[in-house]
Amino acid sequence: MNKHKNILQKTTIILALLLLAACASKSKNARIIEDFNKDWNFKIGDYPTAIQSDFNSSDWRTLQLPHDWSIEGTFDKESKTKQAQGFLPAGMGWYRKTFTIPQDWENKTVSVEFDGVFKNSEVFINGHSLGIRPNGYISFSYELSKYLKFGGQNAIAVKVDNSAQPNSRWYTGSGIYRNVRLVASDKLHVAEWGTFVTTPEISKEKASIHLEVEVKNASEAEKEFRMVSSILNKNNVEVTQTESVQKIGANSSSKNIQNFTLNNPILWDTENPYLYKIVTKIYEKSTLVDSYETPLGVRYFNFDAEKGFSLNGKPMKILGVCLHHDNGALGAVENIHAVKRKLTILKEMGTNAIRMSHNPHSLEMMQLCDEMGFIVQDEFTDVWKKKKVTNDYHKDWDVWHKQDLEDFIKRDRNHPSVIMWSIGNEIREQFDSTGIAITRELAQIVKSLDTTRPITSALTENVIEKNFIYQSGALDLLGFNYKHEDYKDFPVRFKGQKILASESVSALETRGHYDFPADGVKAWPTKYGAAFDGNKDWTVSAFDQVKSYWGATHEENWKTIKKQDFMAGTFIWTGFDYIGEPDPYPYPARSSYFGIVDLAGLPKDVYYMYQSEWTTKPVLHIFPHWNWTAGQEVNVWAYYNNADEVELFLNGKSLGKKAKQNDDLHISWRVKFEPGTLKAISRKDGKVVLEKEIHTAGAAATIDLKVDKPILKNDSYDLVYVTVSIVDKDGNLLPNANDLINFEVTGGGKLVGVDNGYQANLDSFKANSCKLFNGKCIAIIQSNGKKENIQLTASALRGMSSTVIIKVE
Ligand code: GAL
Repeated sequence: MNKHKNILQKTTIILALLLLAACASKSKNARIIEDFNKDWNFKIGDYPTAIQSDFNSSDWRTLQLPHDWSIEGTFDKESKTKQAQGFLPAGMGWYRKTFTIPQDWENKTVSVEFDGVFKNSEVFINGHSLGIRPNGYISFSYELSKYLKFGGQNAIAVKVDNSAQPNSRWYTGSGIYRNVRLVASDKLHVAEWGTFVTTPEISKEKASIHLEVEVKNASEAEKEFRMVSSILNKNNVEVTQTESVQKIGANSSSKNIQNFTLNNPILWDTENPYLYKIVTKIYEKSTLVDSYETPLGVRYFNFDAEKGFSLNGKPMKILGVCLHHDNGALGAVENIHAVKRKLTILKEMGTNAIRMSHNPHSLEMMQLCDEMGFIVQDEFTDVWKKKKVTNDYHKDWDVWHKQDLEDFIKRDRNHPSVIMWSIGNEIREQFDSTGIAITRELAQIVKSLDTTRPITSALTENVIEKNFIYQSGALDLLGFNYKHEDYKDFPVRFKGQKILASESVSALETRGHYDFPADGVKAWPTKYGAAFDGNKDWTVSAFDQVKSYWGATHEENWKTIKKQDFMAGTFIWTGFDYIGEPDPYPYPARSSYFGIVDLAGLPKDVYYMYQSEWTTKPVLHIFPHWNWTAGQEVNVWAYYNNADEVELFLNGKSLGKKAKQNDDLHISWRVKFEPGTLKAISRKDGKVVLEKEIHTAGAAATIDLKVDKPILKNDSYDLVYVTVSIVDKDGNLLPNANDLINFEVTGGGKLVGVDNGYQANLDSFKANSCKLFNGKCIAIIQSNGKKENIQLTASALRGMSSTVIIKVE
């Protein structure tokens, strides 16, 4: 009995202690962040009456955001979006959603946050316009509080007007194509993008951390608050904390500074992207009223006019690629899993930097660059006041550029991955003296919000000295696009200036397609049809790469950059193919040929050239495939590293050893084709490093399905990418197979996109089937929220059919 009494007493004491602890930091549900993507109604067209609360949109389509209606359309040669935007439709559309707001939010500040709406959005709540936002790439929010019915039903409507065309040089998508959140915070809270963290001093022993916090008091009373900010390490363990007590007037905001010392900081870099975070808590008396997170990466960097770039004191080259924002078959729809796949493929290649061409990218992209260790060139725009196409951003420039630029910097300035701000790409004003004043104005706006990163701009011109953006003197870092042959003179021409190849290459390649003209011939790969610019000096420089007349081959560019220490690095145009800008090919070409990886995410051969140069892992890649006609002379190339030589064998017979000479980036053999096995062996000091074999594929035997992950989360967002190919009985890819594959998906997933990477394929990305292109295609399956395993069946007319099961948890 006594024993029981004891236990009872102990339990009472523990409960009392817990209660006390809870009282000490009462929480009024500090900051509620809700996913606001679900259950929207959508209709293409213009529906001004849809702003009313009682409008009936029940016959509209119901969907989950993010959403892009352009990608659902058909390719049309006559489309107003034209070639540059991939011949897909644009136009106008309306989104509408009804939702209830709890009664107890009455004393809160409620906002809706849009990460990006393309474009010209106007948002309405219960019939009231909250504002317009022309720029389709900018994140923005509106406060809803004063129009809301607490404890009742509310209606939000979003008009999206992408009808003025053409308005871009690449595919943009149309609609609410990024995430939306509903945020409820106490009247006393940290403002949106209200923190700014910098690391003024970093040594091995300690880092000083400086945090600015903008606090808002939206109530009618003056308040006193206690602000406690904690730095947590990667394992969410608090390592240091600072607190201060402040007063704030009614309906006002205040800036508060907190300083920390972080002992033995673990630095963020591209190989070990170590992230801390700062959690800022606002207390009113003992009640926690808000909690706000700021990412923190401790790193320092330097651009040097002679030695190039260094990160944390270590010299390194920026090995970057430019990316547009689309996610291939998903269109502009943003999805963290799609972005992660893209970045993983690029990381494997050795890429350590991304240029956000030519506009702000998504929050997910920025977050993943922090987490995965990419250096970011964050870019504001492709146009200022002077247009590139009829209806582009120049129309909004005067009214919006200041706010857009400020919002862009405020949103992104806490990301350790962001190392430089680009205020524009190949801006027209570089050729016009008005460029001087605008450059200075933009630089001043950026510096007023962040002085820790250099300002750059991607410049082009034969004589850069005459470039007005350059002449403004407001750039900290000169970004040059193309003209790699001029680099050698830069240290003299731009003495003391810090220099980066902000954009380079622009060579064309199609995955799995091989032509064999002699090197350097001014020829045209006729397979693609005539070029729309009349074959103007495009050069076939290697058997499968076509060099643009303004660019370079991948090899030419990299050889140049590699040798020049002053050059901080390069951003290749582009990492992935993107929709639109299929230069120089006419319809039906509708997506770009510039990528190192195709639109479906399947690497082209040159991917391995970069991998052999940009990584230290052993690489041996031989190509092309081995299905040719008997007696045909075939160029065989190998990219390799970590070895002295490579020996090639055809059906067991040595074709000789070869080694790269001087600055070679590949080796090659001319081989008379005979069916069988082509085998390469790389050796170092006589020891085998790697062996690679390619076999002549025989008759089609089965459909091979490879999933990029075995388990899908049932959250209605998660994606699995399935690579589909036809193989012979020994598993060899049929490199020329072009079968139509039909897909059937049952269970907890749905097919959300198909693609074969062929730039002139006019079949819908949303079809239930896809033709293989050079043997391959992909199917993208998204969780539909059900917790049931997914069964994907792929079948071809040859009578083959395969099934894969994807577990859903
Ligand atoms: C560049 C431009 C890019 C893209 C590329 C194609 O001059 O900055 O946006 O158009 O050319 O080669």
